[in-house]
Amino acid sequence: MTLFSKFDALSRDREALLSVGFDPFGTPIEEIYSPTEARIGGQRIVLAGTNNYLGLTFNKECLSAAHKAIDEQGTGTTGSRMANGSFAGHRALEQEMADFYQCRSAIVFTTGYQANLAVISGLTQPGDVIVIDADCHASIYDGCKLSGADVIRFRHNDAGDLNKRLKRLGDRASSALIMIEGIYSMLGDRAPLADIVEVKKSYGSYLVVDEAHSLGVLGKTGQGLVEEVGVMDDVDFVVGTFSKSLGSIGGYCVSNHPELDFLRYVSRPYVFTASPSPSVIASTRAALPLLRDGVHLREKLWENAIRLYNTLSEMGYKVGPEVSTVVAVMLDTREQALSFWRGLLEQGIYVNLVFPPATPGDKSLVRCSVSATHTDEQISKICEAFKNLQHIAA
Ligand SMILES: Cc1ncc(COP(=O)(O)O)c(C=O)c1O
Repeated sequence: MTLFSKFDALSRDREALLSVGFDPFGTPIEEIYSPTEARIGGQRIVLAGTNNYLGLTFNKECLSAAHKAIDEQGTGTTGSRMANGSFAGHRALEQEMADFYQCRSAIVFTTGYQANLAVISGLTQPGDVIVIDADCHASIYDGCKLSGADVIRFRHNDAGDLNKRLKRLGDRASSALIMIEGIYSMLGDRAPLADIVEVKKSYGSYLVVDEAHSLGVLGKTGQGLVEEVGVMDDVDFVVGTFSKSLGSIGGYCVSNHPELDFLRYVSRPYVFTASPSPSVIASTRAALPLLRDGVHLREKLWENAIRLYNTLSEMGYKVGPEVSTVVAVMLDTREQALSFWRGLLEQGIYVNLVFPPATPGDKSLVRCSVSATHTDEQISKICEAFKNLQHIAA
């Protein structure tokens, strides 16, 4: 037994993975041509797993804002938000995020992952209780660990189960923090937000909605599920990321609670890490109005998503429970999923391969995310590639 014995099983699994000629969990993208095309293994590939929902990574206004910020402010802040890393741009973006959600205030973090860590571990401590949807993202689970609070899981998307668990908490329910997502990252299904809001209101608990995959995707102005369902006033905190629809990197939290500002002093993932680079902040600020006003982008995104989801579902694939911009195909075994992933790549399509425990219900997934900038031809090509692999899933 050595320190490294724990890697024995992983080492065997990795050998099997690498036998397909690529590491599906570290495929180098040799050249990136556009939000939807790249060169991988010397071949021109359609990117169908990027979370680049609005395709803004090559938007001219975002690019020139980033270039200008690099020229004027340098390549990095070299410090934490709490020390020398709060530039005027960070504060301006916070104001713009607060205005976007018509909320009292916002905080910007270095990544979406850190936003969840910071918010959860800043708001709760040992003795508090966090009630989370079982299918929540790893960053939410890690935030719970960092906080030291008691963690209770409720059945995925089951407001009745949430109610039952809050009831059992007695007096503690009124200070419980409930964590859910707008669109769940693995299967693309939405939270039953109106029902969850009713439950949380009846106990006086606090609700956090992670809109990582729904920002820019749902709601008239792209706020996410909170806007689509019209419950923003009943949600205590919205967290999210800049790394998907906004095409950069970073995280945020918005709230009407004045106490949000205290997280700047107590949240270790805010205090003890360097702040986002000026160019990242600048491109995010340029992308935000494009997201807000991008009704045509959302229309095209959903047109593409509906087409891909319906086509794969008609082919008989086991897809997620509802039409979504995340289109996940569930496969029975890891081997099936791996040969599927490889088969898609051979046909010029890149998707994400996901194995348990990162997936709900022990399923292996090949997971597509749709972009507003996918052309009709690219969606056809993705569908065609899936069609050619039906024998693997049979
Ligand atoms: C629901 C959810 N929250 C948070 C994150 C973390 O965001 P980031 O990758 O920008 O750190 C992700 C990333 O996939 C996510 O899916």
